[in-house]
Amino acid sequence: MGRRRAARRPDHPQGWLVSGPSAIPYGGKYKYPVHELSRDEIKTLHQRYADAARRALDAGFEWLELHFAHGYLGASFFSPLANQRSDEYGGSVANRARFHLEAIDAVRQVWPERLPLTMRLGSDDLNPRGTQFDDAVTAVGMMKDHGLDLADLSLGINTDEMSAKPFDELGFMLERASRLRREVGIPVATSWNLGLPQVADRVVREELIDLVMLGRPALSNPHWPVWAARELGHADPFSLVPEDWAWWLRNFRAHQACIGWPGGEAATA
Ligand SMILES: Cc1cc2nc3c(=O)[nH]c(=O)nc-3n(C[C@H](O)[C@H](O)[C@H](O)COP(=O)(O)O)c2cc1C
Repeated sequence: MGRRRAARRPDHPQGWLVSGPSAIPYGGKYKYPVHELSRDEIKTLHQRYADAARRALDAGFEWLELHFAHGYLGASFFSPLANQRSDEYGGSVANRARFHLEAIDAVRQVWPERLPLTMRLGSDDLNPRGTQFDDAVTAVGMMKDHGLDLADLSLGINTDEMSAKPFDELGFMLERASRLRREVGIPVATSWNLGLPQVADRVVREELIDLVMLGRPALSNPHWPVWAARELGHADPFSLVPEDWAWWLRNFRAHQACIGWPGGEAATA
């Protein structure tokens, strides 16, 4: 849910009526109506987050991340652009973060302390009337007190009216992420153009962030960790993956080109 999902009109065969904190359409190409959630519906949603967490646990997952960025429902609740409620879910930062805090509380009821619970947070709308990064610093401090283990920071894509679109810039989240890490004292992750092994290694080693998230690099090379380990001089990169994968990678040298090994093609001969 979240109002950015209103890409088709509700009566389209593949459309649906999306929900949000207020009946404010996303705008631009996502112009269809948005249903304002009642307090009871919010309560039901939090129960559903907990139900989903229980299913994930039963299925054997060992890490759970709540996606509250990029125009999804949590990002809508956090943003004054989308959230103009006058009840306890709107207004101040604490109120706009209440949806998140209650989600964390509900999920923590079923998700054990020993397993990581993290959140992808839309930390800045890049719009003077939207979420500001200072709001994120305050809210993540509260989330930490509610048992959040790591903040996975992203920004933007919560409105088409962004003052900047830095999405092609190398590591554009790093300054914000390291500030939040310092000020809140919580482990922080981010993504966006950190896919060169040397860059990923440096930003963790220099303690700017604690973890690098990979999107496109992982899609283009599912063996990215093996490639990165080799680039960074690890003595036996294949030892880092499960033994059955390692066996194939060690024994079929023609695959080396697929995993980013320079000279992999020559090895087929
Ligand atoms: C074409 C495209 C579509 C994306 N769609 C989503 C999405 O639906 N949900 C999401 O959380 N992130 C989405 N992202 C953002 C990625 O999760 C990730 O943050 C981004 O690609 C930056 O990381 P990277 O540089 O390692 O790819 C998308 C990115 C791209 C380029």
